[in-house]
Amino acid sequence: MLEGEKVTLRAVEREDLERLWRFRNDLEVELAGGGDPPLPVCLERMRTKSDREASEGSRDKTDFVIEADGECIGHCGLSNIDVAARHCEPGITIGDREYWGRGYGREAVGLLLDYAFRVRNLRRMWLEVHAENKRAIRAYRACGFVEEGRVREHIWLAGRYVDNVIMGVLREEWKASLAGDW
Ligand SMILES: CC(C)(COP(=O)(O)OP(=O)(O)OC[C@H]1O[C@@H](n2cnc3c(N)ncnc32)[C@H](O)[C@@H]1OP(=O)(O)O)[C@@H](O)C(=O)NCCC(=O)NCCS
Repeated sequence: MLEGEKVTLRAVEREDLERLWRFRNDLEVELAGGGDPPLPVCLERMRTKSDREASEGSRDKTDFVIEADGECIGHCGLSNIDVAARHCEPGITIGDREYWGRGYGREAVGLLLDYAFRVRNLRRMWLEVHAENKRAIRAYRACGFVEEGRVREHIWLAGRYVDNVIMGVLREEWKASLAGDW
């Protein structure tokens, strides 16, 4: 649905769930993403949740698979969509670690921003990222996010407390960063 040079963002299909389940149970991937301590998740639970969402839909989130080289390499999406204040929270996981640090995440986040601001008419994107996730922070900065706040020692990351960083970007800032192509 959303085409970049390296990645395509498209709907999550039932056939993707097994790969997404493997990513979800990869401790290195989960700890890189941070947030809550990782828990094992069974495939059946993911299928049940996906079936429910496929039949009922979801008003406050939109999910995509990240596809590269014909394979699902992860997922991303918008959640906590606030239609009154027109903001939402993007999220991304590249679960195939072979693809880390090669510009795939930055491109996927750029596609998400374009979709959120131009297609969905949202006006602010914000997210939380743990302070040791330097790769994510660099990718977000490259897409225009700035640090808006920091909650000190807020996250327990398998052995130590780390800060939680709040980042955000406004539509006007994103628009200004484009080479006139809105
Ligand atoms: C975070 C994530 C989406 C970023 O995608 P990516 O494709 O790996 O990132 P990109 O290659 O687009 O950009 C990464 C940037 O960090 C740099 N980088 C790569 N490895 C790094 C490291 N170990 N430390 C610091 N910087 C690093 C890269 O050089 C690049 O910066 P540059 O383009 O200015 O040179 C991806 O790594 C991922 O899914 N990680 C696991 C889950 C996660 O952290 N999700 C985000 C939760 S908030």
